[in-house]
Amino acid sequence: MSRPVRWGVLSTALINDKVLAGAAQSPEVEVLAVASRDGERARAYADAKGIERSYGSYEALLADPDVEAVYIPLPNSLHHPWTLRALAAGKHVLCEKPYSRRPAEVAEGFAAAREAGLVLSEAFMWRYNPQTRAVAGLVRDGAIGDLRLVVASFSWPCPVDGDIRTRPDLDGGSLMDVGCYCVSAARLLAGEPVSVTAQSTVGPHGVDAHLAATLRFADGVVAHVDSAFHVPDRSHLEVVGTTGTIRVRDPWHCVDPGVTVTGLDGVARDVPVETVSSYRLELEEMSKAIRGEPNVLLGEADALGQARTIEALYRAADEGVAVTL
Ligand SMILES: NC(=O)c1ccc[n+]([C@@H]2O[C@H](COP(=O)([O-])OP(=O)(O)OC[C@H]3O[C@@H](n4cnc5c(N)ncnc54)[C@H](OP(=O)(O)O)[C@@H]3O)[C@@H](O)[C@H]2O)c1
Repeated sequence: MSRPVRWGVLSTALINDKVLAGAAQSPEVEVLAVASRDGERARAYADAKGIERSYGSYEALLADPDVEAVYIPLPNSLHHPWTLRALAAGKHVLCEKPYSRRPAEVAEGFAAAREAGLVLSEAFMWRYNPQTRAVAGLVRDGAIGDLRLVVASFSWPCPVDGDIRTRPDLDGGSLMDVGCYCVSAARLLAGEPVSVTAQSTVGPHGVDAHLAATLRFADGVVAHVDSAFHVPDRSHLEVVGTTGTIRVRDPWHCVDPGVTVTGLDGVARDVPVETVSSYRLELEEMSKAIRGEPNVLLGEADALGQARTIEALYRAADEGVAVTL
């Protein structure tokens, strides 16, 4: 095994807890430094989490020559600018989802990574989980016949005030926060959509509190996706083919994995799936790519497909039209 990749973390974001737990399980990952806009907060955070170095600005962390790669868990609108700055500082980047809702920014980010010879990837951790790979494999191998329909939902009671997700200036919104997983699932299983329609309800803070959409794919495959804030937790993924249906118990968090295939005879068959941290797997995949193994699972094509679809969905919802991609 090659030496562990030394990571820096840009901010004291809440999601770090899961990522740091995944990192702690892996011999291929070493979290060397954390930065915060506030030096005292960074120091206290580093002490609490056992991180060696802390910095009172993101720029200072990027200037640390020992940091090889950075994890960017900033508010959505800051993903792209800080990715560009990290790449310019010579760091590989794992950027939280969604990288951006603007395809031009995705293209610019990946072009910068290519020119610098650095790895950039969008952190859709659910894609690394064995449960997700099992579902994709079942569909690919014809376990439910020809794919006809994907139904995907993700909602949760996001706090109304003060959360980055309710801020339009930070690119908040339910589609950006959780609906993007449903889009990711539809695209993983059915390819790139050819047209979309969508309805959204904009909440008091000016972002979509609820968005429901229909995506149409080649060969007549359809996906219904929806996302919402300020409602109970819902995580749902159902994949329907001509000879069977796949139901996934915990499709996005993947902490309680379970895949069931039901055939035309109505008999349900459980598919065994290993329980493992998706965050560990995405960090390890990045670390391997940084050490020279070709290609990460989620590269430019996937991030571009995500942004193009999200952009089309917002346009469809805002203008009340079907949008062709
Ligand atoms: N993959 C997953 O499982 C998953 C789960 C949750 C969230 N996420 C993604 O991770 C990102 C962060 O989400 P989170 O829930 O962890 O957010 P959060 O707790 O609000 O953290 C965001 C951090 O960004 C920094 N920041 C910089 N500028 C800011 C500004 N203008 N306003 C607020 N914070 C600012 C702050 O750190 P400092 O004050 O320390 O600088 C803050 O702690 C989002 O893109 C989200 O979509 C991914």
